[in-house]
Amino acid sequence: MRAFLLLVSFTALLFAEVSGEQVFDAKCASCHVKSISRAETFKMLDKLKAPPMVEVANQLKSHIIIKGDDEDLHRAVVIAFVKHYIENPDIMISFCNPGALDRFGTMPSQKGKLSEEEKQAVAEWLYDFYEGKRFE
Ligand code: HEC
Repeated sequence: MRAFLLLVSFTALLFAEVSGEQVFDAKCASCHVKSISRAETFKMLDKLKAPPMVEVANQLKSHIIIKGDDEDLHRAVVIAFVKHYIENPDIMISFCNPGALDRFGTMPSQKGKLSEEEKQAVAEWLYDFYEGKRFE
């Protein structure tokens, strides 16, 4: 009985956890393509509303540099930046290249569309999913 109850509560926990990828699919993918090559991007540039997420991830990770290369700190800072940017996009802090900013404009704020948990989950997913995936 006890094992059964434990199993039930464990399953409930599993389902309660927000999946970052599901948040991305529901709230970000209408503008950001998840995975695409550089060549494909240029072929369908007219249809895109925003830089592909694989490029965004690479841009953020390469521009945010932590003295001493502390990986945990790097991950935490990139995640904090993404969570902030979702609600407060601003050309002054965007790492997007000038050509892309000209083409797409600044991201519209997604304030009120994601819970704190969803922002955390999607930001963590963005960091981890694109580990080792280059935009090329
Ligand atoms: C309505 C379209 C749209 C939606 C929806 C959208 N974005 Fe964006 N996003 C953009 C555009 C356009 C840019 C490029 C211009 C800029 O940097 O503001 C961008 C840029 C970004 C950047 C890059 C900032 C930088 O410094 O390079 C991040 C991070 C980002 N988006 C995350 C997200 C996440 C996470 C979601 C979903 C919760 C999301 N976006 C949903 C349009 C969108």
